Parts: sequence; C-alpha cells; structure tokens
Amino acid sequence: MFEEEFEGYEGENLVASTKTEYDIEENVLRPKTMADYVGQQKVKDNLSVYITAARARGEALDHVLLYGPPGLGKTTLAHIIAAEMGVSIKLTSGPAIERSGDLAAILTNLNEGDVLFIDEIHRLNRSVEEILYSAMEDFVLDIIVGKGPSARNIRFPLKKFTLIGATTRAGMLASPLRDRFGILNRLEMYSPEELTQIVTRSAAALGIQMQADAAAEIARRSRGTPRIANRLLKRVRDFSIVKGNDAVTRSDARFALERLEIDELGLDGTDRNLLSALIDKFGGGPAGLETLAATINEDANTIEDVYEPYLLQLGFIARTPRGRICLKDGYKHMGLEPSVKARRQMSLFETED
Ligand SMILES: Nc1ncnc2c1ncn2[C@@H]1O[C@H](COP(=O)(O)OP(=O)(O)OP(=O)(O)O)[C@@H](O)[C@H]1O
Ligand SMILES: [Mg+2]
Repeated sequence: MFEEEFEGYEGENLVASTKTEYDIEENVLRPKTMADYVGQQKVKDNLSVYITAARARGEALDHVLLYGPPGLGKTTLAHIIAAEMGVSIKLTSGPAIERSGDLAAILTNLNEGDVLFIDEIHRLNRSVEEILYSAMEDFVLDIIVGKGPSARNIRFPLKKFTLIGATTRAGMLASPLRDRFGILNRLEMYSPEELTQIVTRSAAALGIQMQADAAAEIARRSRGTPRIANRLLKRVRDFSIVKGNDAVTRSDARFALERLEIDELGLDGTDRNLLSALIDKFGGGPAGLETLAATINEDANTIEDVYEPYLLQLGFIARTPRGRICLKDGYKHMGLEPSVKARRQMSLFETED
C-alpha cells in the first residue's frame, strides 16, 4: 500500500544530479538580495563594501571569481551582485562558448557596467580564454582578421564590464586568468542552522506547512549544501502530501529521507560505496582517485566535485600524495574497525584521541 506508492523514488540521485535546466521552482527559491542570501557572512560583507565603493565611484565592479563545491550559491550570488550594482547580467558558461567569435559577440553587446557571468569558467577553451585576457584587463577586444601574411590584428574598445566567473575547480584555472580577477571568493559549506533557515524560507516560498524540527532534520542531512536542502525539502513534501498530512512533521521527514537512502549525516549510497570500497578493497587506502572511481563505477570528476568535498569536510577521508585514505570517523560511520596497518596509515593525517 503506502510502500508501493513511492515506487521509483529509489535510485533517484539527489546528491549528484547537480543542476536541472528547467526547474520551475528554482526561481521562486533563489534569494534576490544580499539580505535574503543566508550565510557566507564574510563574503557578503566584503562584497557589499566593494559594491558600495564601485557605485560611489560610478565605476563597474572589479571582476569577481566565485569558487566552491556545486550548489553552494555561486550563480545565485552573481545575480544578487548584478542586482545590487543596478546592472543587467548576461549568463553563459565555459563549455557553451565554443569559438572566440562567440565570446567576441557577447562582449561587444555588453553595456557599460554590465555583468557577464561565465559558469564553469575552468572549461573555457584556450583560444577563447586568450580573448578574455585583454578584455578583462584593458577592456579591448584583440582579434586577428585574415590569414597568412595579410593577417592583421584589430583592436575594438569594449564598454567597462564586470566578469563574474564561477567554478568548482579554482585549481584548474590558468594563472593568467585567475590573476585578472580582483575579487576572489571561496564559498563555504553551510552550517545546519543556516540550512534550517534556508529550508524554512524555501518551505514558506513553496507554500509548504512545516514543523520546525522537520526543517532541522532536512537541514542536518543536506551535506552543507542549499541546493540539496531544497531538493530534499521537495521530496519530503511529496511523501507528506501522499500521507495526507497538513504540515510536514519530523517523522515525515525521517521516513522520506530513509526511503531516499540518505542517512543521518546526509550520506547516500554512493558515499557509502566509496567508503566501503576504500575500506574493504584497499585496506583503508591509499587508493588513487581513478582506481577508486572505477571500482565503484562512478565518474572520477563527479567523485571529486560532488562527493569528496563533504567527506573531506566530515573528516571521513583525507587526500594524501599517494591517494585517498579512510580516516577513523569514516570507519566508525561504516561500523568498522581499522586494521593496525590502516591505523598507522591514518595516524600520519589525524591526531588519535
Ligand atoms: N545563501 C543562500 N541562501 C538561500 N538559498 C540559497 C543560498 N545559496 C543557494 N541557495 C539555493 O540553492 C540553489 C543552488 O544555488 P546556486 O545555483 O546558486 O548554486 P551554484 O553554486 O551556482 O551551483 P553550481 O556549482 O552547481 O552551479 C539556489 O537555487 C538557491 O535556491
Ligand atoms: Mg551555478
């Protein structure tokens, strides 16, 4: 009966499916002002200063690089920066700009002060990236017209714009590109309290009645990530509706999260596979990323971008020069005891208590 009504929920991957292109509710949930943007206090405080100063000088804001794991609010923050600057924002992404001509067209269409947002900026191709250097630094477009001996370099002046780049991999940016950003901000994972605020705010925006402890339960299992918190909220709502409840209770939340195979700390099946492979197949490590990925049949980039940041944050695993190792708390979460050899291995990376 009740069990069967939820067929199809199992196997849905709420952690790794990073973006839904046409998520109708997304827009409703996106905070529109700094004040509504929960957490990231230091980043917000600093940005507010730069925005106020740029406005006072009547100039475009310096170029901004936002980096950090997926779903922490980079795109959202870019929208807010543009809104607070009172300018329009053009959105594109690294892989979407295939040729330097595409970028030239985008740049020449920007108005004074506009924000150009380039998502996944680490995935720009080389020739496109080179166009960006002079555009960012001198607000000119350097392009080569013609071929061979008759080729000429032409310069076009551009309006002063602000580039906001977002990336999950700041380390993959070429240094000439990284150096051209005047403002670099790393977004951090959110605390359970901040996520509770986000879930409560989102529930109100979606017209979901929810008890406070239900919001906290969802927050606690959202791996520090607002996007996951919002996703879990929607799924919990679905279970609660089918149960026929008026307001989502903590037990609804627990029931739904169990059905989604998301454990007390927010780990899903893939996290647990990763930990148990590391422990069982590699004696706790070290295991190289590629090897580990192949063992659990996952994509190495997905592991690195989506799964590892939270496992590292929890102190369940560590990255060592020779590969990933499982730490004491990782063993404990899996209900396993590290061998003497594994213990020796990890003692180099954590302090025994
Ligand atoms: N600080 C915040 N306060 C409230 N809600 C937030 C906050 N940050 C993000 N969100 C919510 O989380 C969702 C995901 O955020 P966003 O798309 O900005 O993440 P992202 O960092 O750009 O992710 P990606 O790296 O995958 O592009 C947003 O739709 C928004 O509703
Ligand atoms: Mg984004």
